[in-house]
Amino acid sequence: MKKSKSFLCVTLVAAVIAATFVACSKDDHKQDYNPLIDDPKEEEQKPPVPDVTPTGRSELYRPQIHFTPAKNWINDPNGMVYADGTYHLFYQYNPQGNDWGNMSWGHATSTDLMHWTEQTVAMTRDQLGAIFSGSCVIDKDNTAGFGANAMVALYTSAGETGDVAGKQQQSIAYSTDGGKNFTRYTANPVIKNDDDNLRDPKVFWHAESKQWIMALAKGWKMGVEFYGSADLKSWKHLSTFVVPLKGRPSLLWECPDLFELEVRSEELGVNSNLKSQTSNLKSKKWVLICNINPGGPFGGSATQYFVGSFDGHKFTCESMPKVTKWLDYGKDHYATVSFYNAPENRRVVLAWMSNWQYANQVPTKQFRSANSIPRDLGLFTCGEETYLSAVPSKEMLAMRGAKVKKPTEACEIVVDLNNQAEIVLSNTMGEQVVMTYDAAKQKFTMDRTKSGNVSFSESFPCVAEAPTYGQVKQLRLFIDRCSIEAFDAAGKMTMTNLVFPSEPYNNIKVKGGKATIYEIK
Ligand code: FRU
Repeated sequence: MKKSKSFLCVTLVAAVIAATFVACSKDDHKQDYNPLIDDPKEEEQKPPVPDVTPTGRSELYRPQIHFTPAKNWINDPNGMVYADGTYHLFYQYNPQGNDWGNMSWGHATSTDLMHWTEQTVAMTRDQLGAIFSGSCVIDKDNTAGFGANAMVALYTSAGETGDVAGKQQQSIAYSTDGGKNFTRYTANPVIKNDDDNLRDPKVFWHAESKQWIMALAKGWKMGVEFYGSADLKSWKHLSTFVVPLKGRPSLLWECPDLFELEVRSEELGVNSNLKSQTSNLKSKKWVLICNINPGGPFGGSATQYFVGSFDGHKFTCESMPKVTKWLDYGKDHYATVSFYNAPENRRVVLAWMSNWQYANQVPTKQFRSANSIPRDLGLFTCGEETYLSAVPSKEMLAMRGAKVKKPTEACEIVVDLNNQAEIVLSNTMGEQVVMTYDAAKQKFTMDRTKSGNVSFSESFPCVAEAPTYGQVKQLRLFIDRCSIEAFDAAGKMTMTNLVFPSEPYNNIKVKGGKATIYEIK
């Protein structure tokens, strides 16, 4: 960290950077943070007081069933990889405070996707810049020469000062001790770039074309670049995916992901056509995830995806751009990416439970932000279209504890539904979250306008609405101290919203359905 230097040499460069930022929308968080001017002064850098209670989990809004670091800011989950029985979660982390800045890769590990142990920070900034989002792969065949089964991290070096200021270039680092220590590759960056619109490399091994494929988001240039490599070090540009998003002219594209999934063959949804209803053939399709900010269904950040094919060179969307497909219809589900190498061929994803509209303002102290619960993705068809399904990962079931009468600060509520339902979660302070399900309209809504503290940002109060693509028979609601994640148990609808009640919701009223409440162990 070169804080004092930054303060001295800042004026000229700051003018250039300021001009760049003026061109961006107000939802671009990088407008709020300029490493050259905003690095905190020594005296402002006092770390938040860590929670020293035996559980380390005492703060009012400290999630109980979601990963949060002991202290400080996190955003995107990144570099998620499964190796030797351990899930590794790396994440965008500010080791020095609970606002965005000093981007580094924090690290946590788990053997069950539920209980995470925070590890030492994996990577902090170097001469090429801050360590932005990216991915990890296991190089089992030693294609890069770092050793068989080396864990190779691919990330964006976000240049901050000097020659690299404002440049987002792609770099690699490797670990041969299970993610404890990373060595930067000496010839970084492996993909050079001159502007700040190329980032968040997501890499996977594509067996058919026998090469590593990298998807890179084009930021304000809106799209995804694909690269190929035999050795993770030298990359060749393959193709560009650009799609005009009607009526949404200025958006950031970030954190892409690309993977293949089987399409569920059973009929789902009242609008399913004969073909999708009768087909028993299992087919596979490719999904390109792209996290978009702003422009989510209810403002700010959200995860969009496209369904189509990938031939080792180019991704082709099968139905462009008839419908906008969102993975989650809440306001707080962003930067969704999947684990590399997850067991049983599963596609497990995590998201960052926040929104760039107010992420820096949410009323927490020791920490800021958590990840979503893990979800397993699949594909289903409804009408002419194929959609992503998302269900809570099966590890969540193992967390179910005793049945209880009233909601607790961390619980799962299963609601069996009829045609029309209203679910109200409330506390003794009169704060409430109202959810509705309308079978005729195939809609689910969640109203958090009176959920507690909503005043820290005018973008926070919201009634979010999701299409359900058919009838919902059962809802699974995961309540934690500051979040509600609602799932159609069949996976066709998910909605994730933060809430900041002054005490946990301890009451539930359900009209048109029956609720069973489980403690979470
Ligand atoms: C998405 C994002 C990424 C970037 C990271 C920086 O939330 O903007 O594009 O790599 O956050 O922290």
